[in-house]
This record gives sequence, structure tokens and C-alpha cells, in this order.
Amino acid sequence: MGMTDTVTSFDDRAAMGFVLTLRRRWADTLYPALQSQYEAAVAHRDEAPTDGHAAAEVMHDLELYPWFSWIERGQQKMMWRAVQDAVISRWNELAPNLAAPSDPIGSLELDPQLELPRYYTAVDIHLQPGGVWSDDTSALVYEEGAQIVMLRDNDEYRFHTLFAETAMPQGTHERIVDIGCGFGKSTRPLVDRFPGAEVIGIDLSAPNLKLAHATAERLGKPIRFRQADGAQTGLEPEAADVVTGTMVLHEMPMKHVEAVLTEAARLLRPGGSIRFLEFSRTGDPFRDATVYEHGERNNEPWIPVLMDADVLGMCERAGLVEPRWTPFDERERGLSTDGWGDRPEWHFPWSVLSAEKPA
Ligand SMILES: C[S@@+](CC[C@H](N)C(=O)[O-])C[C@H]1O[C@@H](n2cnc3c(N)ncnc32)[C@H](O)[C@@H]1O
Repeated sequence: MGMTDTVTSFDDRAAMGFVLTLRRRWADTLYPALQSQYEAAVAHRDEAPTDGHAAAEVMHDLELYPWFSWIERGQQKMMWRAVQDAVISRWNELAPNLAAPSDPIGSLELDPQLELPRYYTAVDIHLQPGGVWSDDTSALVYEEGAQIVMLRDNDEYRFHTLFAETAMPQGTHERIVDIGCGFGKSTRPLVDRFPGAEVIGIDLSAPNLKLAHATAERLGKPIRFRQADGAQTGLEPEAADVVTGTMVLHEMPMKHVEAVLTEAARLLRPGGSIRFLEFSRTGDPFRDATVYEHGERNNEPWIPVLMDADVLGMCERAGLVEPRWTPFDERERGLSTDGWGDRPEWHFPWSVLSAEKPA
């Protein structure tokens, strides 16, 4: 279950259970079987593919590929239908989950005049009909759907807690800005890990920010949520110790990524740091091919572009130094130079983008 008790009826639970099981078998049975076929095919070639694009060419001819690719996209569409049915049929009961409390310890700054970027409204991100911004139901739909996407392994937001505990610079921080905070699951662990800091969550989506604010208040976590573009936050310069973002840069075109990194550099005090949880190339052509295609099939068209882009160069152009990617093992170790662990099933090979503003 998400923080909100969205799915209660027998029919909704059955639909969700079906989709979750389909997704698990895709990840733990179909993916390793596809990989075996790939390795057998590569063994018969004179030269093995050296990057994800070449590996994709080999993958397309495998017997299991049509199943793998269709089930990846089909179960995602089934998932949104099941979750939307559950949320919309109980909307009157669920709507109060977004209501602002009368005596908040944090705050919510919405900007009804904010013009949403075209890249954001033109694509139904993750195949979620209407995206995460078009009406209030979309926030609860996204909250519940995100649990299934993570195979219910992130129900307690363990991945995000691992990020706060292992990927953030140590020490005391006065201000942390979380870009693309969504419904707050990346922001709340920052408050737990750095209780003295002022934590600010920035997002374009008013529905998500309403849910983020209401949930943080219910849990007693003081957070300032602000509706703005991460490329133009409207916050004062040189006041943040760390600017973070989890799972956000791959959702925008590269010009926008560069603008967000430039804005992050502007927000940082000298000596401050950025930490973004993202995708980069893994060095394993087969895995990279499946991540590229995950982006394409899941309506996240900038995943492959981000993986091929010179993001470290963007950091340097923004005035940040020592830019680097470090693997992030979302299940156990968090930030780890040892990679993602030897796990046969499909999982996201996350990486943390780090850089510093010169002192
Ligand atoms: C996949 S969600 C990640 C949310 C959260 N950080 C997490 O880890 O669960 C991406 C979020 O980024 C937001 N977003 C996309 N483009 C943005 C931008 N230019 N500025 C601020 N937020 C943005 C979306 O509205 C969405 O809530």
C-alpha cells in the first residue's frame, strides 16, 4: 500500500495483484531468459556488441523479444487502468488526502500562473494517462502506480531512505533543495536524515505538491513545497548546501537538464554539492539496451538521450567541479563503487550524479 489507502475493494486488489504478478514474472523469469538467449546469440558472432545500441540490434532477433517488449508495455498500461479505476471510483472518499491542514508546520506555495513546459504536457510520462499534473486524481494514481513499478519493494520508500543515508554529503546542512520532489517520497527521508535542515521540495505538478504537503503534515515533517520549474526555482542564490533530485533529469530534454544543473549551481553556496539519482551507461551492452528500450516503451523518451549525453560536461559548464557518476544499488548498499550486485532479475541500474561548487 502507498501512504494513502487507495485500493480497498476485492476487484481492485485482484486487478492490481494480477498486474504485479505479471510484472514480477517479466522481471525475474522473462528478463533472465532473454539474457540467456542474447548470450547464446552473441557467442556465435565474431565480435560481441560493444554498446547498448549494437546490443539492441542482436536483441531484436531473439525469439523471446516480442514477448519481453510487449509485456513490458502492456502490463504498464494495464497497471494504470487498474489504479485509475480504483482511485476514480472512490474519489469522494480519497480527495481529503490532498487537503491542506489548517495549522501547517511546513508550507505549500502553488503558482496557478506557472506555464508548464511543452515537453512536460506533450508526453504522458510513464504511459500514465494525463501525466502526473492534469488533475488531482493523478497524484494518488501516481503514488499507487509507483509502488507497483517498484514491484512493491519500495513501499516503505527504502530506496529513497538509502539515497538520503548513503548518497548525500555528510555533515550538517542548513538548506537542501529537492528538485522534482513529486508527492514527497524523496523529500521526507531528507528531513529524517538531516533534521536541522530547511528542506524545500520543488515540482511542476500542483496535484503532486498538494499530496506531498498533506502527507508531510500528517507525518509531522516540516517541508516547504513550492510549485516551480527546476530550471527556474525563484529561490535566492547561494543559500543551499545540497541540491538533490531523484528520478527527474531523465524526464526532460537535454537543454532542460542543462538548465536545471545551471540553476542548481546558482542555488548552491560555495562548497555546496549536487546529488541526482539517475541513469547512466552501465558498461554492460545488454543491460544498457534494455534500459534504452524501457525508456522508449514506457514513454520516457529522454532516458536513452540522457544515457548518451555528456552530463558531466554540462556540470562543468554550469561551474561545478569533480562531476562523476557512481552506481547506486537500490536494494542493499545504496551508493556503491562496487556496482549493482550480481542479481539475475531486471532492476533499474541507478547512478548518482555528484559534483561540487568550488569553495
Ligand atoms: C519520477 S518523478 C520523481 C519524484 C520523486 N523525486 C521520487 O523520487 O519519487 C519526477 C517528478 O519530476 C517532476 N518534474 C518534471 N520536470 C520538472 C521540472 N522541470 N521541474 C520540476 N519538476 C519537474 C514531475 O512532475 C514529477 O513529479
